[in-house]
Amino acid sequence: MRYTKTVLVMSVVILIVIFFSKCFEDNSQKTKDPRGEQYAGMSTCVGCHQKIAASFPHTNHYKTSSAINSSLLKKIADTSKKYFYYMDSSHVRLEENNNVFFQALFVKDAKETSRRFDISFGSAEKAQTYGSWDGDQLFQLPLTYYSGMNTWANSPGFPTNHPKFDRLIINGCFQCHATYIAKEDVPSGPLSVRDKFYPGTLIYGIDCERCHGPAAAHVKFQQENPLVKTAKYITGIKSLSRQQQLDVCATCHSGNDRSAQRSIFSFIPGDTLANFYFPEFGFGSMNNSQADVHGRQMQLLQSSKCFQQTNMTCGTCHNPHEPQRNNNSVFISKCMNCHQQSAHAEGFMKKMEQTKNNAELEKISCVTCHMPLQTSKLISFKDGTAAKNLPYYLRTHRIAVYK
Ligand code: HEC
Ligand code: HEC
Ligand code: HEC
Ligand code: HEC
Ligand code: HEC
Ligand code: HEC
Ligand code: HEC
Repeated sequence: MRYTKTVLVMSVVILIVIFFSKCFEDNSQKTKDPRGEQYAGMSTCVGCHQKIAASFPHTNHYKTSSAINSSLLKKIADTSKKYFYYMDSSHVRLEENNNVFFQALFVKDAKETSRRFDISFGSAEKAQTYGSWDGDQLFQLPLTYYSGMNTWANSPGFPTNHPKFDRLIINGCFQCHATYIAKEDVPSGPLSVRDKFYPGTLIYGIDCERCHGPAAAHVKFQQENPLVKTAKYITGIKSLSRQQQLDVCATCHSGNDRSAQRSIFSFIPGDTLANFYFPEFGFGSMNNSQADVHGRQMQLLQSSKCFQQTNMTCGTCHNPHEPQRNNNSVFISKCMNCHQQSAHAEGFMKKMEQTKNNAELEKISCVTCHMPLQTSKLISFKDGTAAKNLPYYLRTHRIAVYK
């Protein structure tokens, strides 16, 4: 009797457990996009936009932030020097324990602190810097990987006399390098606030809807009307005005020195970017042709005759769905769409037609001479002994004749 009762109680308990676990399963399947119900998420685009969805994950936009990819980090760590010495002769060194990576501070060869790599910012095309979570705060790690020299350097703007483990990563980094993270302003002192992040809402990389705006209604309509071959409930970027098209890219490619009224996470195609910032007064605003090559492609392009005398947009040369880096012939053909009349350009074209090798092509490419690599005045790195400045090269978008 006792025995059957126990069995009965046990079965009821098991049933309850099954019932609740089913509930949770259903809940997790219905997990909403943290941006809100208007968003569908990138996985829903794949079925109907196969070609774009196949190439897009190879772009640096998609890769510009991610959870730590331990095999990539291992590769980087294995081929580069793994430490950096500060002027106070302490050093920070990379450590690995079962595929988990740390940056550890050593003073006189004794380990003082160690922080885990949690997030990477930057695709590592040129550089990659890292964040380490502590509750709802994210700290930037002192060492940044600098691809140009395959070396670990002091993170840009960090002091070189001693290592720094207490720099907070701010919302701005996410606004340009991720699709979304929710945050709140909380007091951090009598007169200051800090970002309190909700790490569970983070969507890494730049996804389709970051550029195209919320697409759940579009997905629903096209799924319910498979015979309709024209798009509904999504803004065609090509149909927007030139300034609106430029603003889609300028949200992240025109610097971040203005003071914001609204978060650029909420920017959608058709919006006017200027409305996201407080107006600037006086002469303090940037002289376009002097803009730094880091992050200010918009201003530099605006200062070019090619831009001023045509309807050029970023899309004239860039396809945001495909990796195009180092594809010299694609970019040259873009120049030639407009410069066929130039005898000088035609001359170079003739030479280039005889050059098959991409590296050879680069030497005589229009881009090499008219959009030269320049060093950033905002970003530079220190080498492993903190003595030398390693320059950070970027391609200027002021298209012009250079000496
Ligand atoms: C059920 C099919 C379907 C799904 C799912 C779908 N789309 Fe579309 N989409 C279409 C069709 C059909 C068109 C019109 C033809 C074309 O441009 O490819 C279109 C067009 C577009 C356009 C171009 C609009 C224009 O006027 O130029 C964009 C942008 C777009 N979709 C984005 C997305 C995004 C982002 C997702 C995922 C969140 C998505 N679509 C999911 C079917 C779909
Ligand atoms: C960096 C911004 C950006 C991202 C990210 C992006 N797009 Fe686009 N997309 C554009 C722009 C700009 C255009 C207009 C292209 C033009 O002017 O020809 C466009 C055009 C389109 C079109 C219509 C024209 C075409 O090329 O077929 C579709 C469909 C589309 N995007 C789908 C997607 C999907 C799906 C994703 C994610 C897998 C995605 N886009 C990611 C910027 C972006
Ligand atoms: C949400 C912010 C954001 C938007 C919007 C955006 N970009 Fe970017 N873009 C970035 C970031 C961040 C990088 C650096 C990627 C990395 O880590 O290498 C980048 C890199 C690039 C690159 C270099 C790609 C490479 O192969 O290294 C090009 C070209 C580019 N963007 C063009 C565009 C164009 C064109 C648009 C508009 C259609 C656009 N971007 C919109 C943030 C953005
Ligand atoms: C206003 C937008 C914006 C903000 C804010 C921003 N970035 Fe970037 N970042 C970019 C763009 C655009 C690029 C690539 C092109 C360039 O350097 O001009 C880039 C490049 C990088 C790269 C090098 C990527 C590569 O491999 O080429 C790293 C690393 C990086 N950013 C980290 C950060 C961190 C960390 C923060 C916050 C402290 C931050 N960025 C804030 C737009 C931004
Ligand atoms: C949409 C058309 C268009 C495209 C694309 C274009 N240009 Fe131009 N460019 C012009 C126009 C128009 C002018 C001004 C008239 C002139 O000097 O020929 C110009 C001017 C120039 C000048 C002279 C600049 C000066 O300050 O005197 C150079 C150099 C140049 N372009 C190089 C290039 C290169 C290199 C590319 C490709 C990366 C390119 N252009 C792409 C239209 C274009
Ligand atoms: C080796 C460097 C070099 C290369 C490569 C080069 N240019 Fe130039 N370009 C110059 C110089 C220097 C001038 C100014 C003196 C002159 O007019 O010859 C110039 C002038 C120009 C001008 C303005 C004068 C004119 O002739 O219209 C245009 C436009 C131009 N280049 C476009 C191009 C294009 C397009 C390509 C690639 C097909 C190209 N250039 C390749 C160095 C170069
Ligand atoms: C006239 C053609 C042209 C136009 C228009 C243009 N770009 Fe570029 N862009 C290039 C070329 C060429 C490169 C070098 C590509 C490479 O190195 O593989 C480049 C590289 C970049 C890079 C990477 C920078 C670096 O140093 O690695 C970014 C970011 C970028 N473009 C953003 C933009 C944005 C944003 C716009 C619009 C404001 C724009 N571009 C308009 C031709 C253009």
